[in-house]
Amino acid sequence: MHPLQCVLQAQRCLRWGPLTSVSWLLLRTCRAHSGVRSSAGPSPERRQEDGVWKDFSSRLATGPTFQHFLRSASVPQEKPSTPDVEDPPPYLTVDDLLGRQRKVYLETYGCQMNVNDTEIAWSILQKSGYLRTSNLQEADVVLLVTCSIREKAEQTIWNRLHQLKSLKSKRLRSRVPLRIGILGCMAERLKEEILNREKTVDILAGPDAYRDLPRLLAVAESGQKAANVLLSMDETYADVLPVQMSPSATSAFVSIMRGCDNMCSYCVVPFTRGRERSRPVASILEEVRKLSEQVLQLIHERDNICKQIHLPAQSGSSRVLEAMRRGYSREAYVELIHHIRESIPGVSLSSDFIAGFCGETEEDHLQTVSLLQEVQYNTGFLFAYSMRQKTRAYHRLKDDIPEEVKLRRLEELITVFREEATKANKTFVGCTQLVLVEGLSKRSATDLYGRNDGNLKVIFPDVAMEDVTNPGLRVQAQPGDYVLVKITSASSQTLKGHVLCRTTLKDSAAYC
Ligand code: 5AD
Repeated sequence: MHPLQCVLQAQRCLRWGPLTSVSWLLLRTCRAHSGVRSSAGPSPERRQEDGVWKDFSSRLATGPTFQHFLRSASVPQEKPSTPDVEDPPPYLTVDDLLGRQRKVYLETYGCQMNVNDTEIAWSILQKSGYLRTSNLQEADVVLLVTCSIREKAEQTIWNRLHQLKSLKSKRLRSRVPLRIGILGCMAERLKEEILNREKTVDILAGPDAYRDLPRLLAVAESGQKAANVLLSMDETYADVLPVQMSPSATSAFVSIMRGCDNMCSYCVVPFTRGRERSRPVASILEEVRKLSEQVLQLIHERDNICKQIHLPAQSGSSRVLEAMRRGYSREAYVELIHHIRESIPGVSLSSDFIAGFCGETEEDHLQTVSLLQEVQYNTGFLFAYSMRQKTRAYHRLKDDIPEEVKLRRLEELITVFREEATKANKTFVGCTQLVLVEGLSKRSATDLYGRNDGNLKVIFPDVAMEDVTNPGLRVQAQPGDYVLVKITSASSQTLKGHVLCRTTLKDSAAYC
């Protein structure tokens, strides 16, 4: 089974309607800006002339990376709540099933599916009152999530078990005995052969037996071996929300199916992971929604992430959205906008719109006008519809809106967008904005431009200013610098003002 068959990498595959765009983070760093808006700088000739861009590039090359800015982000982790245990079998008590703060060390081998399985296993154990440790020395339980795909993968586990054996024998003389478990494909393939061959192993749990982990560990606690390698026809762990193992991870996996029925002649997966089954769509969507929430939270809490979200609506009419096959209604879109605004106060929003899509009535068009008024975007990209060959619309719909009507509607949308954006941007007048400098203004050699936290263009005169980190020093702003700009005027596209001082992200509190 190819891993991509069963795992979607959340960062790339959030393709469900408006949620898609939520995953685009715009970092307020020199490096990220160069990637996102590479066309926004002056022409190449001009760059050579002033040398400023050369300096900018060398600073980019040595600057912090995307990873650096996410490293210590505090995306909320599920807090262990009151332990949640199943009914115990007759030979155990409820108390036996509790983790009682014992520390679990999890080690993952093999494919992305195993990464996801590790998160599921941990989610189940966390709910039973176990704690997790990343320090093997302090672990009470060591669980290896194993792979059987090739012989070498299994050999790696046998070698690891050998090392763990000595750790376990040392532990016997000290505190609580260390328990060792083999989870996943190797447990399924070899079953009790593992227990016979490596006496150090206490528990075995196949890929469909993770719900049984608290019971297996309770049995192991009494000094017995415990195994569950039953495969299931329907286990998808749909109700178990995986807990991401690393709080600083920059990607997450959303598993959409388990098992495999392909029976490729060389492959063991159908025998280790069992029959193919899909997770219910609602449970996949719920997990993706939670991941999107984390992205919103990250944008809200981190000063180094630009508070701007691009959410292409395309139309304000649910009827047209359906014809476009966008997968959301106007109401759902507006609800998402409200949610984003509540999650990130002051967020800047941009969108794409198409005027004159197949079958668009005057009433549909007015609905788009009213959406522009309702949302008040800060930036907009508006287009007249042009039929493209090979598309579904090309084959199934009629491009029936006359060109002059498309253009008239486009003009109307642009006018309304500009009015609303001007209103929204005027609220900045009189405020001081933190601006990341990008370079010389294209229109005037005596002005610089940069972007505020909402990714709006801010233009200000290129004059000497105070540097807050070196009081008394007068400096000229360079691309990549942060400056404070007092806003004096605003249009639908830009803010203008005068620069107050050069500062840093750290030094600047939230302005206005
Ligand atoms: N006609 C007009 N606009 C289109 N877009 C995409 N396809 C077309 C088309 N055939 C616009 C959409 C999209 C943006 C990148 O281009 O608004 O979000």
